[in-house]
Amino acid sequence: MTASPSRSGVFQAATDKRLEAFGESISFDYRLYQHDIRGSIAHARMLAAQGLISNDEFSQIEVALIEIESEISAGRMVFRPELEDIHMHIESALIERLGDVGRKLHTARSRNDQVNTDFRLWIRDALDRIDGLLADLQRAFLGRCEQDFEIIVPAYTHMQRAQPVLAAHYWLCYIEKLARDRSRLSDCRRRVNVCGLGAAACAGTTLPIDRHLVARELGFEGVAGNSLDVSSDRDFVLESAFVLALIAGHLSGWAEEWILWSTVEFGFIKLPHQFCTGSSIMPQKVNPDTLELTRGKSARVIGNLQTLLVLVKGLPLAYNRDLQEDKPALFDSFETVQACLELAVPIVEGAQLQKLSISSRLDQGYLDATTLMEHLIAKGLPQRTAHHLVGKLVGIAQQSGARLADLSEEQLKSASPDLDIAIRQVLGVEKAVKAYQSYGSSCPDQVRKQILYWSEQLQ
Ligand code: ARG
Repeated sequence: MTASPSRSGVFQAATDKRLEAFGESISFDYRLYQHDIRGSIAHARMLAAQGLISNDEFSQIEVALIEIESEISAGRMVFRPELEDIHMHIESALIERLGDVGRKLHTARSRNDQVNTDFRLWIRDALDRIDGLLADLQRAFLGRCEQDFEIIVPAYTHMQRAQPVLAAHYWLCYIEKLARDRSRLSDCRRRVNVCGLGAAACAGTTLPIDRHLVARELGFEGVAGNSLDVSSDRDFVLESAFVLALIAGHLSGWAEEWILWSTVEFGFIKLPHQFCTGSSIMPQKVNPDTLELTRGKSARVIGNLQTLLVLVKGLPLAYNRDLQEDKPALFDSFETVQACLELAVPIVEGAQLQKLSISSRLDQGYLDATTLMEHLIAKGLPQRTAHHLVGKLVGIAQQSGARLADLSEEQLKSASPDLDIAIRQVLGVEKAVKAYQSYGSSCPDQVRKQILYWSEQLQ
């Protein structure tokens, strides 16, 4: 059995098996293997450049590490709890192959700066993957804008019918939210993209290393300025978890909306059947499980952020083993959000708005009441007076289940002698939508401009 390279001559007893099982992280941090190997090759190249190992030793290390990477990729490395983590597995495999040359790799390096670096490299790639999927989802919503452009839907506040909007206005709304997610993600990436390698355990090293060389080699934008900070720092993990929690929150809100929209009660949307499930007893059921799970899984992603916040609270400087617990939480957040996004894209592309069912009930709920009020304001009525008056008209209309446009001259006059049926010119959802003027509103002109803007952004 391979002994752990981290157990020095000071130990007088072998590790208790229970600690091995308790302390291992290989069952989850194996995910870092490619990034660990990339980091090790960069580190070894720098050691050679600085004369700390020979060029020949570097070449041997590089070749062996690439072989080890293929071995892990092919599933041929047997993971052992006694080797704790991915870093020790790779180093042990290197020593098995190269003997003393392999024993030189860990010169001027500690697992503390190593794990920090590997995780940053892994997160950087994962953030880029999520960003690509967010862009795909934005494009899926943008694609709907054209196809649904003529469709008017109610906008809701407090889940009560509020004002009419173009369906495209909904899609653009999601595009905006996802754009902010992407901008948070790229901001977070800047802070992730800093090299910790060379901080060693916590104080730096007496050996003449070149940290900037390693950073350049690994594509980092900067070098962390304080070795204690590297050893203790995981705020890049928390920040990533936060960005992911917000994305999960946005996806959950969208999922909830489309679950509602797909009900008989709403009848707004038909979900693609390949992402729905049936009932074992009720033959008519088409259940929106993918959306429900997207909503449900957001709980895990939000919970992971909480886990991480509590994990780092009150840790003294510098490295503490508690920090190993950061990985299951963040891996889970990334994998969950990625899975949700991968399914969100085809659902958004494949869903069908139920045009007739939507339009047949647009007359309900007095969606044009605010437009009428604003028409009266434009004619000179104070806002509060117009607000009160239109409320009164809605009250009269409600008594007979009529629309505002159905009110007779007599009924209008009973509310105010200044009103007559000329107000019908502004009523109805089509006219209400066309009447919006303000920047960012739902009138066709504004929406067209937004579609154009996002088409250019998302090319
Ligand atoms: N698996 C460990 C982690 O994720 C690696 C660092 C271990 N460092 C140490 N000094 N024991 O935190």
